[in-house]
Amino acid sequence: MSQQPQAAVGAPLSRVDGRLKVTGQAEYAADLPHARTTSRGGTPIIDGVVHAVVVDSTVARGRITGIDTRAADALPGVLGVISHLDKPALVYRDNPGAWLDPFVGERLHVFQDDKVRFFGQPVAVVVARTLEAAQHAADLVRVSYDAEQPTTDLTGAPENDPLPTQDYARGNPEEALASAEVRVEGTYRLTRNHHNALEPHATIARWDGEKLTVWDKTQWVLGARDELAAVFGMSAENVRVISPFVGGAFGNALRTWPHTTIAALAAREIRRPVKLVLTREQLYYGVGYRPAYEYGLRLGSTRGGRVTAAVHRIRAETSSYEHFAEGVMNPGQLLYATPHVRQAFRTVPLDVNTPTFMRGPGWSSAAFAIESAMDELAHETGIDPIELRLRNEPQEDPSNGLPFSTRRLSECLRTGARAFGWHRRNPKPRSRRDGDWLIGMGMASGIYDTLRMRSEARVRLDADGTALVQASTSDMGPGTYTSMTQLAADALGLTMRTVRFELGDSTFPAAPPHGGSQTMAGVGSAVQDGCDKLRQEAVKLAVEDERSPLHGVDADDIVVRGGRLHVKGTPARGETYRQLLARNNRTHLETRGTFTPSGDDRYSMNAYSAVFAEVAVDRRLGLVRMRRMLGVYDVGRIISPKLADSQALGAMVGGIGQALLEHTVTDHRDGRIVNANLADYLVPVNADIPDLKAIYLDGEDLHADPIGVKGLGEIVKVGVAPAIANAVFHATGRRVRDLPITAEALL
Ligand code: MOS
Repeated sequence: MSQQPQAAVGAPLSRVDGRLKVTGQAEYAADLPHARTTSRGGTPIIDGVVHAVVVDSTVARGRITGIDTRAADALPGVLGVISHLDKPALVYRDNPGAWLDPFVGERLHVFQDDKVRFFGQPVAVVVARTLEAAQHAADLVRVSYDAEQPTTDLTGAPENDPLPTQDYARGNPEEALASAEVRVEGTYRLTRNHHNALEPHATIARWDGEKLTVWDKTQWVLGARDELAAVFGMSAENVRVISPFVGGAFGNALRTWPHTTIAALAAREIRRPVKLVLTREQLYYGVGYRPAYEYGLRLGSTRGGRVTAAVHRIRAETSSYEHFAEGVMNPGQLLYATPHVRQAFRTVPLDVNTPTFMRGPGWSSAAFAIESAMDELAHETGIDPIELRLRNEPQEDPSNGLPFSTRRLSECLRTGARAFGWHRRNPKPRSRRDGDWLIGMGMASGIYDTLRMRSEARVRLDADGTALVQASTSDMGPGTYTSMTQLAADALGLTMRTVRFELGDSTFPAAPPHGGSQTMAGVGSAVQDGCDKLRQEAVKLAVEDERSPLHGVDADDIVVRGGRLHVKGTPARGETYRQLLARNNRTHLETRGTFTPSGDDRYSMNAYSAVFAEVAVDRRLGLVRMRRMLGVYDVGRIISPKLADSQALGAMVGGIGQALLEHTVTDHRDGRIVNANLADYLVPVNADIPDLKAIYLDGEDLHADPIGVKGLGEIVKVGVAPAIANAVFHATGRRVRDLPITAEALL
């Protein structure tokens, strides 16, 4: 197979959908029905849409004793109020496809009983002709409760029985810890974080007889399709989920949440298409969040900084009805060569809604504890934090003995140290000042596993020389539209403008969830495969065609550029796709690309990072200001450098938020979240963000997938918060083990 010239891949291109987004033409679920018909995905016009507003529980635990809908029903424009009193028929078939959902526990069955499990639980839905009428009527619904005292505080609450996978041990950690020359110990606390994407969750549901069409905010149209099919007891073929644009998600649109079921249920009962948009406040109860953690960690080491023992005691919140447990144990098993390790991970069922994945899920929470503790050990042993990490670099994956596909963490550390000017750092805390500001530098390593799942893509080249590529993946912001177009353009030998990539429709070829940083590896490889096959088919057509100037040429000697096939090195000899297809009376060529991961059991595949932070802490006020940040990443091949920077810098902003600002505050008296809005839940603003820089090690990982990528979206988040916490320690000499680091903690 001939090597195609690369023009688009690796070029710092802007988003192909950027203009649509900034001009408001990108249609998000809540934008529909739009005044005009969309050009993407062939979305039909939705006529006669009515509006639904959810009524939420105002207690966190107990029973509903009554729902009085008389005033709501009497309001003009109200079409109905649905609650458990109506006993709406839902099937809730098992859904083996919902493997992202917690394996233990029961989905929240909407309106199926009188039990209240958390504050903000949907207890009724009002449907009206206008949004205003629905909102007003929802306010008029009177719900009475037999309320009980909820438990919503992770600290001190009893734990679930562990799953078999929640205990891990190698070596003899207690003995190794007892005999260690140096020990450090701490409990690190991470508060709950909410994703707070700009776009609210929204669903429009329409029934056409037995068929259900849903326009939804989702990172996984096939997951939403299968869940709706299971909830309503339908065949998946009768459900179509459409989601061409997602305005940020960070993991909380991976699962299908109750409001999607409610919209479809309301549409069925009211016999009209129904639109349901969660309010900003409902986004704190109606979808998941990053769970709060208590992470106790003890490290034992030699005086020379060889970590010999690590004992992890991890607690995380979950709901009373589902046992959500994410990959928080993994980094502690393979980030360092530590021979003796014990981990116990316990979830704590609380009267809260179920948490879910949030950027760098689990791995980033663990990294805060592990990388803070490593910094404490560096301080204790007097070893430079980077040198300490280099001394604990494993030769193979210590959790399973597998070789690493590629592991260039040491190179990330060394490259970053040089670029950040680490050698200028005086290791003594509180040693550098700028007026009233104490200046500190900190760093942390990061790791995130390289996920890959089976993916498919459809590729069609039309007689006019343009191509259409489709896969049922999503673009929650990383730029899937753009990066897939880049891959396809080069593989087909077309310009960016002559390739269109479509996603977000469950009728498109199968794609895994758009999460876990696996979209490029899986869908990208399927796109590459489909486009390679299509180009080869065109080449074959040409070389076998006696009327083609390429007749008889060895197929391996032909490349395609700008839609023109020609002999490599002899551009004059060739013809265009259009000429080839026209002469052969072909309206189009079509292929299907696939990617099936292999070699899972032969290599340990992960992405790595080294993150550096410089902070200034006001000596008297305890205010922390970021001065600069650098991330160095071993993520395999970079398909789209500008989008990679968007991911890396965006994750630094998110990590700055996690480290210094973001904090979901629950009133434990009644289980209400007191800052359930974007005014009181603090996220960084421009003034909080300093100079940010990302460096990607040049290279590829062909064990991971044929296009050599290792995933980017999660790893860029992983080491950010601990690098900042370590910089705060270096600036002040104060070790803050609780996130977010507030001014109070530094006074
Ligand atoms: Mo990401 S937390 O997998 O959307």
